[in-house]
Amino acid sequence: MASIYIAQCYVKTYIDEIQRQLALNMVTIVSEEEAEKLLSSIKIPPRPAVIVEINREKSKEEPDLRRIAQIVSKDIALTASLLKTANSPFFGLRTKVENVQQAAMTMGLNNVLSIVTGLAIKNAVKTKELDMERFWDSAEKVANVAAYLSKRVPGVPKELAYMYGLFRDCGIPLMLQKFPDYIETLKKANAGSKSDFTRLEDDTHATNHATIGYLLAKSWSLPNPICQALLNHHDISILHSDDNISAEARGLIAIIRFAEFLCDTRQMQNDHDWDESGPVVLAYLGITEDELSDIKDAVFQYQEED
Ligand SMILES: [Fe+2]
Repeated sequence: MASIYIAQCYVKTYIDEIQRQLALNMVTIVSEEEAEKLLSSIKIPPRPAVIVEINREKSKEEPDLRRIAQIVSKDIALTASLLKTANSPFFGLRTKVENVQQAAMTMGLNNVLSIVTGLAIKNAVKTKELDMERFWDSAEKVANVAAYLSKRVPGVPKELAYMYGLFRDCGIPLMLQKFPDYIETLKKANAGSKSDFTRLEDDTHATNHATIGYLLAKSWSLPNPICQALLNHHDISILHSDDNISAEARGLIAIIRFAEFLCDTRQMQNDHDWDESGPVVLAYLGITEDELSDIKDAVFQYQEED
């Protein structure tokens, strides 16, 4: 009985916190009512303990880098993934980093934390309905390419682009947990255009993976550009609209859409609406046809080396 009471209190506090955050930000886009309804029916995983512990140390007046390195290093799998990512050719570090402290000193603490937070989502979101290994493998490929492309957008560090790459579709496994027939929606969406994905979800389930991913990002206190980009990532028209969305969020949306196209091309998969969205994305990033060919070559080369 006591444990049920504690769980209820936790859910109440959790919803209150989300509502507080929504009230502070973007309340016009996801209403409190909608957020409450979704949060009471969809199981959004809490921030992993390692992220909570790191942020607690980071928020101190004088954060102890060694202490943060120790917290991350306790998780061997997370540390291995962090070092693999940091040393990937997409990140272009001049010297190889061999431990968490070295990574933090070379890349900067905040940048290392962006990568760690991105990697933490892989363990936090799971469903039996999907081959999660394949799902995260594909997300990681897109995230790596996004890190490389981030130099096209001022104010977007590669680590932030990488984190966004891993989070961008985290709402999909959560939709699968909630709706038994979502797998059919996913099949239809995969056969159609990316821009119709969320509309199809809305019509069938009265919500979509972009909204669910946004709510998760808010509950994990991710940076605002990530939250905004998650919510709008299937709407390429937002790149040239006057909506209340930051330049960094727009940049993230453009980078990811281009990264998806490059990964699809590499895997000989059809990117259904690239003919339509491609020119908009490339114009936003200031990429010419000649440059496109050079970028493709560089990305494919790095994917081979990685
Ligand atoms: Fe998506």
